[in-house]
Amino acid sequence: MATEIPRLPEPTWFVGCGNMGQAIVGGWRSAGLDLSPAVVIRPSGLPVTGVRTVTTYADAGIPARLVVLGFKPQKLDEIAPELSEWIVGGTTIVSLLAGVETASLRQRFPAASTIVRAMPNMPVAIRRGVIALYSDDADDKTRLELANLFAPLGFAPWMADEAKFSAVGAVAGSGPAYVARFIAALTKAAEARGLSNEIASTIALETVLGTGWLAAAGGESMDEIARSVASPNGTTEAGLEVLDKALDRLILETVDTSTRRGRQLAEAARLS
Ligand SMILES: NC(=O)c1ccc[n+]([C@@H]2O[C@H](COP(=O)([O-])OP(=O)(O)OC[C@H]3O[C@@H](n4cnc5c(N)ncnc54)[C@H](OP(=O)(O)O)[C@@H]3O)[C@@H](O)[C@H]2O)c1
Repeated sequence: MATEIPRLPEPTWFVGCGNMGQAIVGGWRSAGLDLSPAVVIRPSGLPVTGVRTVTTYADAGIPARLVVLGFKPQKLDEIAPELSEWIVGGTTIVSLLAGVETASLRQRFPAASTIVRAMPNMPVAIRRGVIALYSDDADDKTRLELANLFAPLGFAPWMADEAKFSAVGAVAGSGPAYVARFIAALTKAAEARGLSNEIASTIALETVLGTGWLAAAGGESMDEIARSVASPNGTTEAGLEVLDKALDRLILETVDTSTRRGRQLAEAARLS
């Protein structure tokens, strides 16, 4: 993580700031970033804590140095024609849009100096996120500036190519939903053994948190951790015999399906 608190470019626009935009803003706020250079532009005008919120680009003021695209991919063609008129030579665009490729963004925003894709996940809100970064035209200075800006939110690697960037999205971007489902499934299993929902949900969450922290602290592989729990012919080993038959295939299929949906979104955003 960066030791110094980075500064947001002045001005920074968030075009759309819903769940993910606000997770990023919340993470930056708790990291102590000065949010005064930021403006949110969103149709509802709903306030975003700590950031000036407006409903039109004209109200946002002078064109931004950094523009974060925080709306849904399906909104791109509705938003791009007007927004592109506000994009000038010195503007860096950071797109959060799942699936939409840099080439498609470049077609919509030809005047931008740099186009960057960022794929964050929800734990950025508590500064334990993953944020993959990719660009085919960012210079070293911009790469460093953005790496510093996203570092306070978690693990923020620059990816070497767009396919690998998409792979991070399919695993880490969507991952909190998969992990949440796993915790819910553990909860249901505990309830089925007669535990109250309160106890079941707490032990499920604490087990996942504790295992994650154990792995992070001790540096053991997941296999070593599993083997340290499962004694030969014991209770855990009996359970793993069932889980191991299905889990790898299930997760692979889950990530493959998410990747395919990403490709569909990419395809839909391509201009002929
Ligand atoms: N959620 C995740 O975990 C996650 C992870 C990785 C990437 N992403 C990406 O992040 C982006 C946002 O996702 P989200 O989950 O934050 O969606 P969301 O909660 O639905 O937020 C969408 C935002 O877009 C705004 N918007 C709608 N129409 C607009 C317009 N014409 N001009 C400007 N803003 C407009 C909305 O403003 P109003 O509320 O004012 O209507 C809202 O602030 C998506 O592209 C998604 O692929 C999300």
